[in-house]
Amino acid sequence: MNAQLSAARVREPSGDSGGPSIRISTSDRGEDRSAAETETVVELKNVSCFYGSFRAVRNVDIKVTKQRITALIGPSGCGKSTLLRTINRMNDLVPSYHAEGTVLLDGQDLFARGVDPVAVRRRVGMVFQKPNPFPKTVWENVAFGPKINGYQGDLNELVEKSLRRAALWDDVKDKLKQSGMALSGGQQQRLCIARTIAVNPEIILMDEPCSALDPRSTLQIEELMAELKKDYTIVIVTHNMQQAARASDTTIFMTMGDDRAGYVVEQGETVGIFTNPRNQLTEDYVSGRFG
Ligand SMILES: Nc1ncnc2c1ncn2[C@@H]1O[C@H](COP(=O)(O)OP(=O)(O)OP(=O)(O)O)[C@@H](O)[C@H]1O
Ligand SMILES: [Mg+2]
Repeated sequence: MNAQLSAARVREPSGDSGGPSIRISTSDRGEDRSAAETETVVELKNVSCFYGSFRAVRNVDIKVTKQRITALIGPSGCGKSTLLRTINRMNDLVPSYHAEGTVLLDGQDLFARGVDPVAVRRRVGMVFQKPNPFPKTVWENVAFGPKINGYQGDLNELVEKSLRRAALWDDVKDKLKQSGMALSGGQQQRLCIARTIAVNPEIILMDEPCSALDPRSTLQIEELMAELKKDYTIVIVTHNMQQAARASDTTIFMTMGDDRAGYVVEQGETVGIFTNPRNQLTEDYVSGRFG
């Protein structure tokens, strides 16, 4: 089945959404998947995140499935980035931050005593909103992480492989000695993805990775994500409903309460969230009536 469902079409009876027509690619969704394909890699159990005494995120229970793309959507300020950065302990770098609850990576409690946050960040890579290559050559950008991790193999090979996997090799193979900062925005973002996969993480977190990119570069990143999920598990935060609908398998919708604490309203197969949400808040958000 390759049902190209249009969320707008499915919602027609409800009338006046006025929201954009959203195409959902369901090429490999909703069908029987083997046990290995539905393996949980990350599980959050009753996770709350605080900045000082302010509770930014409350009581989150979610599961992230191996080698699938999970989209995290919701209005600005509902805690998507906070939650994402909790998964690789990036928020530990914020002094006022602390989390409660349990975050499991392959069943291991990431906040347990003795767990090294740097090791966690190696296993759970991150790509940011604004492409942020190091002020170094293209080659160095990719080789840097493996080098500091003591990579023993052939670095030239690894750099080429990572750039190929990030669909950037053809663009930069003659520019390896040039600054990464001299590339276009879309190329810089793919360089950051190459840098991330060069250290061979299990999971790649992406926080609005396309928001600074033009439509063509955005599409390239989405195509790249579809390729990468053969080997990696991806969690992406996006404000772009079309992107969530097109690119993800699973969607988690968050919003926030009167106390400004973000919480998960609904999570499930992307096709269901966009065409037949269980919760009115989700319906309002994905149809563009709110947020
Ligand atoms: N470093 C910080 N210190 C204090 N409060 C913070 C910090 N980072 C985020 N917050 C607060 O936590 C809440 C959630 O912020 P977060 O950035 O996670 O939201 P978001 O859903 O990613 O928003 P956006 O869609 O605008 O990126 C907000 O109220 C924000 O002001
Ligand atoms: Mg954010």
